[in-house]
Amino acid sequence: MKAILIGFMGSGKTTVGQLLAEQLKTKHIDLDNLIVEEAGESISEIFAKHGEAYFRKLEQQILSKALKLPGILSTGGGTPTISANVSMLLANKAPIIWLETSNQATINHLKNDTSRPLIKDLDQEGLLKLKNQRSEQYEKIADLTIKTDCLTPLQIMLQIKDWL
Ligand code: S3P
Repeated sequence: MKAILIGFMGSGKTTVGQLLAEQLKTKHIDLDNLIVEEAGESISEIFAKHGEAYFRKLEQQILSKALKLPGILSTGGGTPTISANVSMLLANKAPIIWLETSNQATINHLKNDTSRPLIKDLDQEGLLKLKNQRSEQYEKIADLTIKTDCLTPLQIMLQIKDWL
């Protein structure tokens, strides 16, 4: 693995990961996509049918496999916060880049989102509380933090490329 992208839902991990992989002529691995492929169900279906704990187990199993592949990994927003073991696993594998988003940008991005089961029942306050809790975890393992507000995905990708 050349680099691992972490960050809250809607921070652009997938878009930036794709661009970076293209630029570095390597593969892009999107953890959520791998989970969907392996389960044969959408993320919403997995949450609805089996619950969050089941999803996290699956996420952790598939992460272990994904970390053995070469390329750029875009994690899910909750991946680094599954457990201390998982964040150690991530931290030892490759440089970790945190795409840090502002509260306002997060609200704007996610307000009409129906694909993310975790936030479907959260109001704005709940969403920001979750974001704050997660940010502490992201910060602990990040080797590079990019504040994404005012930057395009291309600019973010170029900053990462220059840093790597
Ligand atoms: C989650 C984020 C999602 C997906 C799942 C749970 C989370 O990924 O893994 O819905 O706990 O933050 P994105 O960050 O790509 O939306």
